[in-house]
Amino acid sequence: MRADFAIIGGTGVYDAGLLSSVDHLQIDTPFGVSFIDIGEYAGQQVAFLSRHGKGHAVPPHRVNYRANIAALRQLGVKQVLATAAVGSLKEEIAPGELLIVDDFIDMTKSRETTFYEGENGVVHIDMSDPYCGRLRRLIAETADRNGIEVKPGGVYVCTEGPRFETTAEIRMYARLGGDVVGMTSVPEVVLAKEAEMCYATVAIVTNYCTGIADSFLTHQEVADTMRANIEKVRRLFFELIKR
Ligand code: HPA
Repeated sequence: MRADFAIIGGTGVYDAGLLSSVDHLQIDTPFGVSFIDIGEYAGQQVAFLSRHGKGHAVPPHRVNYRANIAALRQLGVKQVLATAAVGSLKEEIAPGELLIVDDFIDMTKSRETTFYEGENGVVHIDMSDPYCGRLRRLIAETADRNGIEVKPGGVYVCTEGPRFETTAEIRMYARLGGDVVGMTSVPEVVLAKEAEMCYATVAIVTNYCTGIADSFLTHQEVADTMRANIEKVRRLFFELIKR
């Protein structure tokens, strides 16, 4: 089995939709097992991976990022389109909006962040363009052509989770230059880079972060806003794949 593109679905995205002749695969990798669906769309083989598993069973700090990216590599995937639910650090980035992530700040604490543990050499991967510039431009062009509004860039602060942030942390992240906050882009983007894939993320803003809005934040709010906006992202990804 091989695939040209992969879609990684985050919170609220548990099936690929639109794919035909879908095979459900369990792929063994040196890092563990990954569950991936492969189907066809517009003559291309597309892999779909649900980051948190069906029914959102795996919390962000327990996702086996290495197995997932290794499995995609085994399938020959070269281009990855990922979704991510994020909170906004800025008033001008509102819930319901889409944003093409172009950089990250890593605030995670306990994750396996590399394929290179020493046995296979010491490798320091370049991070000057962590999210593939070519795919980012293609996403922006595709959105424009299809009348889908998307912010062209933004810095993703990746926290360890699974708890949401304190007000003081959010104040700090905003001062550090972050635009949005999520719990999954690191190490996924780093591992994809190590695997020489072109990887991009469209973030779906589901809420204002703690202290930016004056209400409590719940996972339900995140899931509901995600559900209301995910169709835009799906359309964007499939229009891009069809090109
Ligand atoms: N913080 C962290 N992760 C998130 C948030 C948030 O406010 N919203 C969606 N994912």
